[in-house]
Amino acid sequence: MRTENINHAFLDGVLDGSHEDVYYHFGVASSDPILADLRGVRAVILAGSGGRIKEFAQRWSQLNGGSEIVAFPKEDRFVTRYTGGVLFASHGMGMPSASIALQELMRLVFFLKSGDLDAMDDVFWCRVGTSGGVGLPGGTVVVSSEGLMADLKPYRLLRGGDGEYWFDGQFPAATRAAIMAANAGVDDLSVVSGKTVAGNEFFLEQFRLDGAVCFETPQTKMAWLRWLDDNGVRNIEMEGAMLAGYLNHWGFSKFAMICCTLLNRLEGDQVTATPAELHKFSEDSGVALFNYLRASLLGG
Ligand code: URA
Repeated sequence: MRTENINHAFLDGVLDGSHEDVYYHFGVASSDPILADLRGVRAVILAGSGGRIKEFAQRWSQLNGGSEIVAFPKEDRFVTRYTGGVLFASHGMGMPSASIALQELMRLVFFLKSGDLDAMDDVFWCRVGTSGGVGLPGGTVVVSSEGLMADLKPYRLLRGGDGEYWFDGQFPAATRAAIMAANAGVDDLSVVSGKTVAGNEFFLEQFRLDGAVCFETPQTKMAWLRWLDDNGVRNIEMEGAMLAGYLNHWGFSKFAMICCTLLNRLEGDQVTATPAELHKFSEDSGVALFNYLRASLLGG
């Protein structure tokens, strides 16, 4: 962990009782007794939708002998469930929304682990989601190697003083290899690894032609998609570059992103899969996650 990048100016005061931390968008604070149950957290699993979080928690509880499921009371922004040592939380859509969830969850993990860097680093983080494939058919599970923005540069934000801060978008290779190994040879599951682009928008920054606002022509769209393909990008979503950037900033060593493709963007823009196909696609990224969670947290 990189202690110098942790905001000790604010967070140390939470540990020594000078002030509490309010995880406002989750509706809990560091003084809330509900958090006592969460000190043993070993993994934080993020997904866009609250419905998936509830399903994941049910499934993980069953695998843990019906472990109790703790729910945070506020659900108008993010849905949260804790069971069997895993905190499941939704993050909404896009980097502005997901960055709020991640900042508050990183602070929460700091508090739950009393600022112990080794204990914090034991926590596994993973976003599970959907994406557009680049040269991959719908239904392929992509384990990301790197998260980049639409210009193939890392996530960056404006800051005071010296302009932009550039984050590191690499996903840890060892975690990725362990996820691939946990899913090797699983019937009916196609899992690949590659770079992932996070667009700031579903339509414009994913170079679609079917938005209400459109800047692209068929030629500029295909030139962008082919450029991504030539540079090893396998899928496009809306959160990964920020997620990897923030987790690398604190120096977490175990984190990943597992996204199923809904379509091959080289063949179109609209998601036309049937509800049954979409259900299977979304199930597959969950299956890949649970195969890894079982292997790493339950020993097989
Ligand atoms: N999610 C995205 O961000 N893009 C897609 O094309 C599909 C899912």
